[in-house]
This record gives sequence, structure tokens and C-alpha cells, in this order.
Amino acid sequence: EKGNGKGARGLRFTPVAPNTADTVTIPEGYAQNVVISWGEPILRGAPAFDPDKQSAKAQAGQFGYNCDYLGLLPLPEPGRQLLVANHEYTDEILMFKGYDAAKPTREQVETAWAAHGLSVVVVEEDRKNGKLTAVPRHHLNRRVTATTEFKVSGPAAGSDLLKTSADPTGTKVLGTLNNCAGGETPWGTTLHGEENFNQYFANSSRATDKRYGVGTAASERKWELFDKRFDVAKEPNEVHRFGYVVELDPYDPTSTPRKRTALGRFKHEGATVRLTHDGRPVVYTGDDERFDYFYKFVGSKRMAHGHSRRAREHNLTLLDEGTLYVAKLTGDSPAIEIDGTGKLPNDGEFDGSGTWIPLATATAKGAVSHVEGMTAEEVFVFTRLAGDKVGATKMDRPEDIEPNPHTGKVYVALTNNSNRGVGTNAKADEANPRNANKHGHVLELTERWNRPESTSFAWSLFLVAGDPKDPATYFAGFPKDKVSPISCPDNVAFDRYGNLWISTDGAQLGFHDGLFGVATKGDRRGELKQFLTMPKGAETCGPIVQDRRVLVAVQHPGEIDGATVEKPASTWPDGPGTYVRPSVVAVYRKDGRDIGV
Ligand code: FEO
Ligand code: CA
Ligand code: CA
Ligand code: CA
Repeated sequence: EKGNGKGARGLRFTPVAPNTADTVTIPEGYAQNVVISWGEPILRGAPAFDPDKQSAKAQAGQFGYNCDYLGLLPLPEPGRQLLVANHEYTDEILMFKGYDAAKPTREQVETAWAAHGLSVVVVEEDRKNGKLTAVPRHHLNRRVTATTEFKVSGPAAGSDLLKTSADPTGTKVLGTLNNCAGGETPWGTTLHGEENFNQYFANSSRATDKRYGVGTAASERKWELFDKRFDVAKEPNEVHRFGYVVELDPYDPTSTPRKRTALGRFKHEGATVRLTHDGRPVVYTGDDERFDYFYKFVGSKRMAHGHSRRAREHNLTLLDEGTLYVAKLTGDSPAIEIDGTGKLPNDGEFDGSGTWIPLATATAKGAVSHVEGMTAEEVFVFTRLAGDKVGATKMDRPEDIEPNPHTGKVYVALTNNSNRGVGTNAKADEANPRNANKHGHVLELTERWNRPESTSFAWSLFLVAGDPKDPATYFAGFPKDKVSPISCPDNVAFDRYGNLWISTDGAQLGFHDGLFGVATKGDRRGELKQFLTMPKGAETCGPIVQDRRVLVAVQHPGEIDGATVEKPASTWPDGPGTYVRPSVVAVYRKDGRDIGV
């Protein structure tokens, strides 16, 4: 039935064919609009976008660069919602005319600091359809940048490992960097993963930094020449203050955002929450690196209900106390590789069991380590080393991990790992079943008794990505002649019917990245359909599927080797003669009806 609008409820659209068009291609009967782009003024007093007259001051009041995670939160104003976006990193070569990577100017560097971080901007719905437009100068609009003050909270706050010459208390950090994916909490805040923070720091010689990929020489952007905190040789602990999940109260533009050290320090892709039956938060979070781990935090305090100030203040402490766990997965058959011969493990399925290994527990009175040879502070700051010590399972780059609100099952996007099985690296195992894994896969986890706080779980392969004609792919058992090709799953989201939506980054099938929907239950489970495709060089991020619209972040369009402002690979979305601009796009039905029904 591919090719017509049939499918599971919520996925009844004609799939978009894979392509290399320099635009956002959407299904028949749908329309789109750019909600907001890099450089649009959102704060009072910010100037209109003028890429030939950029400044740090202007950028600090404008929408940042390379939007990734998107959240939409309700507002009491009818027809309006609060859009929260991450700005993961900057592409200076596509931002500044004549950019010289060997000699960036102070203004360019400070503009890049201002283009990182987060944006909060009110958006307005069209009454007739799902179109969304930004509301500039709204009093809730906010920019958080690489220089905004953050409070460090949780078990590593005030630790000697976090003290610097500028902050002898170890509790006050300037800025957040490389915010990739994120999530909303049931208490009305947003979580943002600090991912590849290592790239901003220079001149380290420590083994702990090496485990995080911090370089021994100059950094790519040379920020260390403009602020010595980015020079590890001069300010050794600054790098220990990045790599956390940050929490923002987007409803209070004067609030100080927090770095939640109880969730550990690694290359956090994102963070998503499910509550226990007694109201405690469980946060799932992946460490996006080849052969790294995924984690969960189980809070010990219950969420307070209601909107009173007391309830909000209480809920802003929920992520400071609890236990951090890392995942260990065991196959239940002798490990074999999914190799295209159709060979299956001897029980017929790539599946098995897993345990959550406790690493450390944070309480109001202090923290306790569960890892031999490491203090609790060390576990929370050098979390990767703790995972190494307890023998956690080395995964194929854990990106988004998100519980399905309909079923509680947890989906783990493993984007790819070309090094799996290469040389002395770990070989394919039942949970990472493909050597030289170019296209990635998605695992489905079921927590014991379907309780998110359980310390054991069952898992199975949900999807092994690639060209469905490749026998080493798997679409939850659905007939493969009826599904779209997919490669490099990254962000995931759910619609109101419990369908899983998957956005991709770095697709390796010769086509641009895109967004896909797939049923997770019923007789169409595994029927994967492509909903949209990206412009040239772009990764699909931040998908949100509401009844009337799909929202995506078009991240790093035009990011192709050798492209510059003068010689662009793409000029999306504004057309020839303009700067390519990362943007948020809304896709909706022309007839105003709900998505996919
Ligand atoms: Fe920023 Fe793991 O993608
Ligand atoms: Ca098995
Ligand atoms: Ca990502
Ligand atoms: Ca990615």
C-alpha cells in the first residue's frame, strides 16, 4: 500500500521519495512555512538580520545558529505556545564572509558565543491550519548563550574538580555549549544535553580529558585565544563544568538555568523523562560516541502538582537527588552478526535482557559512590570512567532515548558505528548486531513490570536501518517491500497515537536526511514511511508531532566540505544571493485537518 495515503492512524500520508533536492520536500496535500531562522530578532531592541553587519550584541538578541532540539510548551494565551530551541554549534565558514579559521577576529568569536545556547520564543498558531509564526519582542522571549550565568547543582556542585580562578565556589558557570537534543519535564521545564563540549577546549594532557576527546593542541575555533578558560593548560577545571544536562525554566525569563550534575558528565545527546507511579522522575540519557554507554537517573523525590510558587521551587530540586545507572545488555543467544545471509540467533530473534548498574547516589546529606576506586564526585564528573569500570555495554553511538508515553517502552536510537568490529574494536554483539555499522539501528526496551525505576529490562531490535533491499536490515518484521529506506537514526518523538517518529543525521544511502514515521504496535508495526526530506547538507532535528503540525529543525544546511559564504552549497531557505540559514519549519495539512489521519 506504499504510494497511497493508507497506513496506521497518524501515518496516513503518501511517503516522500528519497531525493537530493535543496529544499524541504513534504507529502502531497501538505504545506510548510519557515517559523524562524538564524538571526531573526526575538528580543526587544535586537536589530533585523543583516549577515554583513553581524555583532555579538545583535546576535545575543536574535535566534541562534544550528537549531537542534525543539520543545513546544503550552501558554495561557489562546493560540500561542512557547518554542524552546537548542543552538548546538556554529559554522563560522557559512556565517562570516571571508572567514579565516587560522585568525578569527574577537567580534567573530564573540558573535559565535552569542549564537550558541538556547532560544525561547513565543509562537502563534494560524486559526485555519497548522502554520506557526514567531512573536518577536514577547516578554517571555529569551536568549541563553555561551556567556549566560548558570548555577551548578547536585552532587558535584562546589567540588574541587569544578573550582576555577574565576569561580572559587565551583557553583557558577558561564554558558552552555553544544546543546544537542533535549526533552520537556512533566513539571514544565526543559532539559538540554551538552554534547561535544570537548571541541571548544585546547591544550590538555590529562587522561581524563582524553577519554572525553579533549584535544592536546589548539581548538578548531581558537576561542582559547580570546578567553583563557578554554585553555586547559591555563584553567584546568573549566572543562569539568561542561558535559551536563542543563535545566531551564522557560516560563521565567529571569531564572538562572542549572547544570544538573546528578545526571552525570558525558556527551549528553538529550534527556527525556518518565514518572514512576509514585511521581518520581526517571531521566534517560545517551552518550553519543562510538562504543559509549547509555544511562538513566532515578530521582528520589516526588513531583509536586500545581502551579504554586512552592510547587515550582520544589520541582526545581527533583533532578538533584537520586541514583545514576548505566546500562548493561546481554544477548540471550550466542552473538552472531546480522550479515545479510538471513542468519538469526538460535532463538530466532535479536533480543535479550539487561541490567541498570548503579554508579552513585546523591542525597540531601551527600553522595555515595557504588564504583570501587572512585569517589561519588569522581563518578559524577568522570562518568565515562565509571561506566568503563563497571563493564557497561559499548553501544553504536546512543543518540535520543525516549519512552513511548502510550506503552512505556523505551526507544534507543543508535545512529551508526563504522568502527564496530574493525581492528581490535568490539565486534558485533546481539544488541549492536552489525560490524562497520553504517546505517544504525533502534532498540526497544521494556523495563521490568513496565516500571521506569526497575533495575532490569528486556530489549529487542526494533529497526536495523539501511536500504530495505539489503538483507541485513529489519523493520520490526514488517514486509520490507513496503517501507522507506532510512539511515542514521538520531532524534525520536511520538505522536498522540504512539507512532515513533525518527529524524536522521548523515544518511549514507546517497539521499538527503529526513523525517520518518513508524507504527510501534498493531499489524502495521514496523511500517516505516518517510514524511519529509532536508535541503542539501542539513540534518533533521528536534521533531515534534502535534495534531495539526510537524515541526522540524533544519540543522546545518549547506554544510558541505569546501562551501563558504562566497561559494555556498545551498542558499536555503531565502534563495540565490543569500546566506544559508538554519531554520525551524512547520509542516501542516493544506485542508487544516490533523497530520496523518
Ligand atoms: Fe548532536 Fe549526537 O548529535
Ligand atoms: Ca536472542
Ligand atoms: Ca543529535
Ligand atoms: Ca547526530
